Amino acid sequence: MNRSDHGKTKTKIGRREFLFKTLASSGLVSRYLGSPASLLFAKSLLGQAPLDNASSLKTKELVTSNVDFFIRNHFTTPKISDEAWRLEIGGLVSKPLKLSYSDLLLMPSVRRPSTLECAGNASGGAGVGTAIWSGVPLGELLQQAGLKPGAATVVFHGADSGEGENVPPGTYFARSIPLSKAMEPATLLAYEMNGEPLPAEHGFPLRALVPGWYGMDSVKWLTRIEVLDQPFKGYFQDEKYVALGAHGERRPLAVIQVNSKFLRPSEDEEIRARTYRVEGVAWAVEIKIARVEVRVGGGAWQPANLSASPAALIWTPWSYEWRVPSSGQYLLEVRASDEQGRSQPESRDPDRKDPYELNTPHRVNVRVP
Ligand code: MTE
Repeated sequence: MNRSDHGKTKTKIGRREFLFKTLASSGLVSRYLGSPASLLFAKSLLGQAPLDNASSLKTKELVTSNVDFFIRNHFTTPKISDEAWRLEIGGLVSKPLKLSYSDLLLMPSVRRPSTLECAGNASGGAGVGTAIWSGVPLGELLQQAGLKPGAATVVFHGADSGEGENVPPGTYFARSIPLSKAMEPATLLAYEMNGEPLPAEHGFPLRALVPGWYGMDSVKWLTRIEVLDQPFKGYFQDEKYVALGAHGERRPLAVIQVNSKFLRPSEDEEIRARTYRVEGVAWAVEIKIARVEVRVGGGAWQPANLSASPAALIWTPWSYEWRVPSSGQYLLEVRASDEQGRSQPESRDPDRKDPYELNTPHRVNVRVP
């Protein structure tokens, strides 16, 4: 199935109109409309000239388009026909449900922006994005199904399976979250991404969206949701996506760690301006960002400006006016802290034996001619 063929008729609208509509209905525009400086920013979204102090970050950098959104698949993308597809909700429920795609589309839906990061995203990497997702809150469906006493764990089963990456043959992608996280209003079964049906590689027809937790829990191509009274055991639950200590200690991954990155400058950029607006995004997702700092050439950490009042569940844009010194090579670094006082660590814990939660400061080298 190609990305634009989801059995729905699409009305063509201009790109800018699309972006604005998406932002307006998501509340992002109203967030920026709070102050005069942010009003300028909102105007620049609509194509009017940005004025002094308006962030020059583009909408497309704040809301990641579907084509630019990272893809992390363990197996090949399953081909699913929305006509034949069904979602089963079973296990410790009194009324198991079997829902079609149209059953879900006809339910009351919510639409919200949310930042998603892969647990293996490198510092400054592309494995993080923010999209506006629409779907049905999982908690409402679980309530409809009637949770039985003892319900504790919700398992998401995906339609994709295969071998490779040392996966035992016949393994399907499946992950679980605790019932308390499943019942949070922000936890969705999403069928739309940025106003379009989910693209095939992002989980068409339906995926879980577990905001604030690393991407592996946002299971794509959902076929079955199972409620258990005990922890779920599975390859992707117990072998992958586990933090490993030097002495074999194991800790399941869940909450996204505070992190940040530069959007500009990029590695090896040549900077000719006398002052340069360094820009980027910072996120802790479940928790709001409190502070972003930039360091040049190993000097003191300097505060960056948060370009909008930080909100939970989406990244926060920031900027830093850099007075560019004399010619040379400079290392720029950025680190963020969240409202609970967590900060990005200076270096990776040497005891960690796994490739996840990589949140040391993003570092870029630039040249001033
Ligand atoms: N769901 C299924 N069924 N199969 C997968 O391989 N990958 C997970 C998650 N959901 C995966 C999945 C991982 S590791 C991440 S980071 C996110 O999907 C990535 O979502 P995206 O590809 O839409 O960005």
